[in-house]
Formats: sequence, C-alpha cells, structure tokens
Amino acid sequence: MSAETVATTRGKGPRHVALIMDGNGRWAERRGLPRVVGHREGVQALRRTIKAAPDLGIDCLTVFGFSTENWSRPADEVSDLMGLVRSFVGSDLKKLDQAGVQVRVLGRRKGLPVDIARIVDQTVRQTAGNKRFLLQVAFNYGGRADLVDAAQRLADLARAGQLPHEITEDDLNAGLSTSGAPPVDLIIRTSGEQRLSNFLLWEAAYAELVFQDILWPDYGAEALAEAVAIYRARDRRYGGRPAEADNLVKVAAV
Ligand code: FPP
Repeated sequence: MSAETVATTRGKGPRHVALIMDGNGRWAERRGLPRVVGHREGVQALRRTIKAAPDLGIDCLTVFGFSTENWSRPADEVSDLMGLVRSFVGSDLKKLDQAGVQVRVLGRRKGLPVDIARIVDQTVRQTAGNKRFLLQVAFNYGGRADLVDAAQRLADLARAGQLPHEITEDDLNAGLSTSGAPPVDLIIRTSGEQRLSNFLLWEAAYAELVFQDILWPDYGAEALAEAVAIYRARDRRYGGRPAEADNLVKVAAV
C-alpha cells in the first residue's frame, strides 16, 4: 500500500478491533495434526495480525484467548493453551514492550494457575506506561462474568454509601475489565461461525460484526485488511437514521 493510500484511508476507522480467533482445532484436524499444532499456528497468526494492525489505522486490538467456558475442554488441551501463554509472553513480551504496546489482560485472575496469574500481572505492570498501541488479551474471560463483576462492584459501593445517585451506564462501564479502552468498532470472528460466544457482550452494543470463513491459523495482514474494508463500507448509525434517509426527508420538505 502506498503512503498516500495509507494517509487517506486512516482515520476512517476502525480504531478498536476485537477478534474471536476461531478454527485452530479444525485447521489442525484437516491436516491430521494434533489440535495443539493449530493453537501454535494460531499464535503465529496473532503475531502477524498485531504487526499489521497499525498500518490499517488500528490502535487497539482485543483478542479472545481463553474463555470461562474453555475450562470444559479436555485437560491436555487446557494445559496446551496455558503453555502457549507462557511461551508467548516469554518470547514476545520484550518486543511488544519495546514497540510501545500496552498489554491488558481481561477476565478473572481467580482460577488461573498461580504462575500464569503472576505472568499476567507482571506483563500488565511492565507495559502499563506504553501508549503507542493497546493489546487486550481476554483470558479466563466471559462477557457475562465481567458484567456480574461490574454489578458486584456497584453493589459494594452502594453498601458502603459511595453511590449517591441512580446507576448510570458510565457507572457500570467503569467496572468492566475493558474500562478505559476506546469503544469497540469492529468484532471479527473467523472460521465461518456466526455468534459472539459470550465475548464483549456490553461492548458489542454498536460494534460492526464481520464473519470471515478463513480459519484463524491462516489469518494475517490480508484478511485483516479485507475485514477493515468491509467495515469501512458499512453505514454506522448507532440507532439513528441513515444519512441518505435524512437527505430524502430534507428534499421532500423543500
Ligand atoms: C479457537 O479455536 C481458539 C481458541 C480456543 C484459543 C485461541 C488461542 C490462540 C490463538 C493462542 C494464542 C492465545 C494467547 C492468549 C497467546 P478452536 O480450538 O475452538 O477451533 P475449532 O473450533 O476448529 O475446534
């Protein structure tokens, strides 16, 4: 892409893209390989996608790494996924930090293996001051659990007499683990499945949804650019009227 094209397409968004990285298992099974190989290739796809995002004007990526429901997978697959986090952080944290990437981890710390919880806390602490790009990894995350935690926080504040007004959207938002991140513009799910699977339930309210048939391990710059192009062709109305409808009303009134 030429510098001129980048300059003219930037600014149209999306700024914040969330990814449901689906299809690792099928990718491996189609090749007669163990599922862990699919997850490993999934990490490579994640690296390619993070690298490609800034050139498309994206400055925040949120990825679904492990859901509260993923604990029901066979123990060896859960253990493989935990192992991938250890190695991803071990090999990539320094590079991400040097590139100015702030890493946040969404989801509950409780229930994580002790060493993973420590790695997560250290990663978050080490990159907290970085401003160039925000990478949010949802890990032991569920949208409903996050809403429950936000509601619990409000109940605790009310009980302590620190909530003197009726609950507002901002109050609830402040208790979500995504609080402080820019609004989610686009949610992408790969592998052809078309559902949210308990990802970013509150944040998805006005996000555009794009479903791509590609399996996650095959994802990268080209597929991300395709999703961004689909997003840019959409008319975001936030419950309002389409721009053309407004114009038609004005013309009819003349
Ligand atoms: C879905 O594929 C993918 C996952 C459950 C895990 C996604 C994890 C990675 C890409 C590894 C990197 C993660 C981090 C946090 C570094 P699936 O197993 O459901 O595939 P299937 O639907 O084809 O079975």
